[in-house]
Amino acid sequence: LFAIYFYLLFKFMSDHQLNVYINKLKVLIADRFTKDSSHDIAHFSRVYNIALKIQKKEGGDRLIIGVGAFVHDVHRSIQADTGKYCEPKDSLPIVKNLLNKINFPKDKIDGVLHVVEYHEEYSFTKKGKTVHDIETLVVQDADNLDAMGAVGIARTFTFGAKFNRPLWIPDLSYKKKYYADSKIEESTLMHFESKLLKLLANMNTKAGKQFAKERHQYMVKFVDRFKREWKGDL
Ligand SMILES: [Fe+2]
Ligand SMILES: [Fe+2]
Repeated sequence: LFAIYFYLLFKFMSDHQLNVYINKLKVLIADRFTKDSSHDIAHFSRVYNIALKIQKKEGGDRLIIGVGAFVHDVHRSIQADTGKYCEPKDSLPIVKNLLNKINFPKDKIDGVLHVVEYHEEYSFTKKGKTVHDIETLVVQDADNLDAMGAVGIARTFTFGAKFNRPLWIPDLSYKKKYYADSKIEESTLMHFESKLLKLLANMNTKAGKQFAKERHQYMVKFVDRFKREWKGDL
């Protein structure tokens, strides 16, 4: 019984510490992320929550996964400022600075930077996946889950609107062999073909795949219905 008590106390303490870091980060980055509601602080919070859920089932360093999930898209704030796609790698100096400011344990900083640098690897790009550490794999899954389902659909149309992308161009199909995050597709519906509907097969962890199934089905139904309504079938 004592063992269970201390285990629970330890668990509580470690998540408490994690919350302290996240609250400090929220204050530091709140004003950086107001322009793009597909990559705002609410996205960070959702990815953080999903990542912790996956971590519970799959393991990995909970601090690195939690904080890594929360800062993974700092590169998008640079993108919002410049209007041009910015690689996650280019955000590392800013992220490192943030981690130092919140007194994040020195021996875990590299772990977080690694997660941030490699969170956008997909099996359907030319480069494919190159990393295999559980922390990065969990954050990749969490980030991709937030690109799926009802939230994923909403984020995709918001993102498309930012670039004045048409909803759909029916006679234009996606032909590229490899996906590139830096390219904006011709229509929002095309983004489902190029990326979103490929995410289920791209999941790394068992738990991630499990969570992804329902979201995937929801998107398949949405795209099908969208196209039927567009053609006046209903
Ligand atoms: Fe990203
Ligand atoms: Fe993200």
